[in-house]
Amino acid sequence: MVRMSLVQGEFYRIGKLPPYVFAVVNEMKARLRAADLDVIDLGMGNPDGATPEPVVKKLIEAAKNARNHRYSISRGIPNLRVEIVKRYRRKYGVELDAEAEAIATIGAKDALAHLLFATIGPGDEVIAPNPAYPIHQYGVVMAEGHTTALALASPAEFLNRLEDHYRTALRKPRMILISFPHNPTTQCVEPDFFREVIALAMKHGTMVVHDFAYADLGFDGYRPPSILEVEGAKEVAVEIYSMSKSFNMAGWRVGFCLGNRKMIAALARIKSYLDYGIFQPVQIAAIIALRECEEDTKKICATYQRRRDVLVEGLKRAGWCVEPPKGTMFVWAPVPERLREMGSLEFSKKLLEKALVAVSPGIGFGPLGEGHVRFALVENEHRTRQAVRGIRRFLAGGE
Ligand SMILES: Cc1ncc(COP(=O)(O)O)c(C=O)c1O
Repeated sequence: MVRMSLVQGEFYRIGKLPPYVFAVVNEMKARLRAADLDVIDLGMGNPDGATPEPVVKKLIEAAKNARNHRYSISRGIPNLRVEIVKRYRRKYGVELDAEAEAIATIGAKDALAHLLFATIGPGDEVIAPNPAYPIHQYGVVMAEGHTTALALASPAEFLNRLEDHYRTALRKPRMILISFPHNPTTQCVEPDFFREVIALAMKHGTMVVHDFAYADLGFDGYRPPSILEVEGAKEVAVEIYSMSKSFNMAGWRVGFCLGNRKMIAALARIKSYLDYGIFQPVQIAAIIALRECEEDTKKICATYQRRRDVLVEGLKRAGWCVEPPKGTMFVWAPVPERLREMGSLEFSKKLLEKALVAVSPGIGFGPLGEGHVRFALVENEHRTRQAVRGIRRFLAGGE
């Protein structure tokens, strides 16, 4: 017998969070796998590669030291903050103060959610592109802010809409929340784009948050710029850097928030109430990644680029033409015209059932994601080819 809970009523905040759209596809995938079917999972952006060996070695060594078993520091140990600051100097020519302009976080998600919680209040307006990574949308909801979603047909169009918004809005937006290379659309920007965003934000006193989760995943020689490279960006902006994709460290939960000291102090204050920092051996190992593993990052990026080519070429041969992305670990594909009417969720379910390939339906990234699906490049080239064969059969079958 299932016992009913005695807890009464709806929860205020939970009522604002719809069930994850991706859960529908995930449940179906689990059912097919339970029936022994070989599903190729290109759904979640969960890196499949190993963390570089020296990082794992350092973790083991540091975990054996009892001094590292205690509570750590919520903002991150000083040497880790110094190391990320050195990386920004080396790669972007950006100077940051490790004490006041850098904080370690439990991944980018922790940084985003708690930064919004710390800096946004009831009714504050956050401007963000749509489609977008879910926490960009629901982090604002949880903080009781209000998102104005601007279409992201292209970065130039986003900028036009942003300028229009400033011209016509009755109240000044409190924050612009962006992320390039962009998940899920894979759009990439040049430094000029950031220069314009920062100029607008400075003129109107708006905070800017740039989620740089795909900082190191640029293809064909494209180098994603940091927003902090823009002169004076720190006056209004922070950037969030993640170790998850650059070093295959998604499960380790290490990220950073860098830049504007007032925003970082706010995040530090909230976090000091909520957590005791990342497990110290993980922080120590992360120092090794930042200091010694640049070559591994390049190899990780090259692997995604090869998989991109296999997928994009294969889809083309199957009659499904998609733009090859310049960055991220995704391919953003318009649902083939003749099947578009069924919507991205139904299409994803069909693809899973008939081709045994799991993808993320665009609608899961917000209303403007409808009409697309997202492939994550998280299976090797052989498996990606297998996925393409399944898709080709499915599309040829006229379903
Ligand atoms: C845009 C974006 N931001 C943040 C994250 C999460 O990063 P982290 O693992 O550092 O929390 C992801 C993960 O897919 C992402 O796509």
